[in-house]
Amino acid sequence: MADKKKMSVAEILAAARAADGGAAAGAAKADAGEEPASPAAASPKPVPGKPAGAAKPTGEAKPAAGGARPSVSDILAMARGNKEPGATATKPAAEPKAKPAAAAKPAAAAKPAAPVAGGTKGVERDTASILAAARGGAKPGPVSKAEAPPRPAAKPKPAEPAAAKALPRVVPLKPTRAPLAAKKQDAEGEDRRSFLQIATGSFLAVGFTALSVTTGLFTLGLARFFFPNVLAEPPSKFKVGFREGFPAGKVETKFVAQYGVWVVNGEFQGQQQIYALKTVCTHLGCTPSWLEAEQKFKCPCHGSGFYKDGINFEGPAPRPLERYAIRLSDDGQLEVDKGRSFQEELGQWADPASYVNV
Ligand code: FES
Repeated sequence: MADKKKMSVAEILAAARAADGGAAAGAAKADAGEEPASPAAASPKPVPGKPAGAAKPTGEAKPAAGGARPSVSDILAMARGNKEPGATATKPAAEPKAKPAAAAKPAAAAKPAAPVAGGTKGVERDTASILAAARGGAKPGPVSKAEAPPRPAAKPKPAEPAAAKALPRVVPLKPTRAPLAAKKQDAEGEDRRSFLQIATGSFLAVGFTALSVTTGLFTLGLARFFFPNVLAEPPSKFKVGFREGFPAGKVETKFVAQYGVWVVNGEFQGQQQIYALKTVCTHLGCTPSWLEAEQKFKCPCHGSGFYKDGINFEGPAPRPLERYAIRLSDDGQLEVDKGRSFQEELGQWADPASYVNV
């Protein structure tokens, strides 16, 4: 008995499938209280002293009597006949006491016949689902939504730190792509603005520079007006040397460039004198030249000519040359004073200030 109770799953399945084949006949006989015709269909081996039904797998009756766990055969029968395990367990538990022979009849043998008679013979169950249902106590085979076990509740998400919730999420700005035409227009506008800025800056710079230069020149002219260059003028009185340095008939020209004066030791109206002639032509103001060979002063501008004593004799000059004042200074030198001039046509050459006697 112990060996039969410990039947392997394969043996149980084999027995169940074998019973599936002759379920109709076995079930009918079992209901009528007859012994099964085939030992394989009813019971593997009859045990003496015990009802023939007890020879059926006791594992099937044991759970039914206890009412706690259905046997594999019951589960298989239920799977094929859609029968609840509680119903199979209660029925065998009541029958063994009243009808030993009937109770000995395998409930599993009677139950498996029901599905065949009930018309569910064509429903095939795969072994894996049947075994899974047998071990887990769940309904084998496909299940509906109502029968499906509830899904595990979703795991609650870990709460975010308070600091993370408080801080606003920084959303990176997406770079905007300006159209190519807009970029080109922006570049042209930038070029025009740059050109206008440069042109305006250039005009302003030129204007301010010109204004600065004009103001500087005006300031310099004003300063020159208030401080005239009077010191550039030569002194009106200057010494030319001793009388011995001017022999008779000599015309000294070395003071022309510096003082504009000829110092002459000549004869005028029969009197030998030393006098100072002004080097300015009486025509239009040119400077005549002394021509030693011709013993005359010749104006290069219009050809006026003057004698050694200064009397004009040719050219457009209207009157004789003028004289400066001359005198003997305290040191014996001749001193010329350009502050005074004497004109012959006015009779001023007769003034003793206009000559020094030799
Ligand atoms: Fe001397 Fe005319 S300026 S001749």
